[in-house]
Amino acid sequence: MENKATLLSGIKPTGDIHLGNYFGAMRQFLDLQDQFECFIFIANLHALNQIHDADILKANTLEIAKAYLSVGLDPNKVHFFKQSDIPQVSELCWIFNSITNVGLMERAHAYKDFVAKNGSGGAAMMGLFDYPILMAADILIYESDIVPVGKDQQQHLEMAVDIAGRFNHIFGETFKMPEGRIGDETATVIGLDGRKMSKSYGNTIGLFDAPETLKKKISSIKTDSKGIDEPKDPDTDNIFALYRLVADPVDVEQLKMRYIQGGVSYKEAKDLLYEALVNFLAPIQAKKKELDENEDYVLKVLNDGREVALERAEQKLREIKTKVGI
Ligand code: AMP
Ligand code: TRP
Repeated sequence: MENKATLLSGIKPTGDIHLGNYFGAMRQFLDLQDQFECFIFIANLHALNQIHDADILKANTLEIAKAYLSVGLDPNKVHFFKQSDIPQVSELCWIFNSITNVGLMERAHAYKDFVAKNGSGGAAMMGLFDYPILMAADILIYESDIVPVGKDQQQHLEMAVDIAGRFNHIFGETFKMPEGRIGDETATVIGLDGRKMSKSYGNTIGLFDAPETLKKKISSIKTDSKGIDEPKDPDTDNIFALYRLVADPVDVEQLKMRYIQGGVSYKEAKDLLYEALVNFLAPIQAKKKELDENEDYVLKVLNDGREVALERAEQKLREIKTKVGI
């Protein structure tokens, strides 16, 4: 494992994990876990900006851990842990605070968007302002080579590179530059209403939705009013957009031809989607049920991951402290 490049990423424990999360974020880790030494953590410190309820934060943290293990994150290959279990990250965040200009942080999109919506009168939390610096500490303390993130996090990654460069400039070569791996924009999963699938739009299909819920949600998918015999466009239809993600490729090709030729009703397409989705989710949901009944195992996984991460972070922080003189 030691000779592999290091991959790191953080996952915010937002709750209600949906197909957009799965295809947009979760799956790429599964594809990469053989190739790299992976550090994947649950970003519960970052989540504190949004969640001010201990029970909810704890529940969401456990839920996202189970979700990742259910879809196939392999704890034998990946160091999987909670961000808050590595206090060295917060210490490094403070050191970075001390060498980072306010001006750089004021350019952060997430902060700027918040101020644009809520005014600049101090409504933003310091934690939101400091968000990119904590993220830089996450990335740099483990000497990460590759950091897969969504497009919305690209700027934060660039800031981490800036901060690493600034530290190296002041205190001498200490950090290597991480490289981003930005998720494919075309991989956006659309929701029941044709907009981007998102919790805030209420248009999601949950990874752990029961079959009855799936049935109801699928019947609410918006379509145009074309009749059975009319040809339909697979590239713009919302049912097909979801079907192609979860169905067997041979079936996808077949339905595509039937769309183009005409002869399939939206009702039938919805039934096919339902069937494919239930089959696709069944093994994931079965695994989740197993983990629900064995939470001690999940906690043990996170604890094992913590030990490796802690060792790595401690070693790096010692070097950093020597450089800055504390
Ligand atoms: P969120 O909980 O909305 O911040 O999403 C977590 C991650 O899931 C994001 O960084 C995206 O990579 C991914 N994601 C969320 N929604 C979608 C979507 N509709 N399509 C593709 N990826 C998504
Ligand atoms: N900010 C990231 C998000 O919202 C989560 C995150 C925290 C992260 N620290 C990180 C991602 C370090 C990559 C590397 O999705």
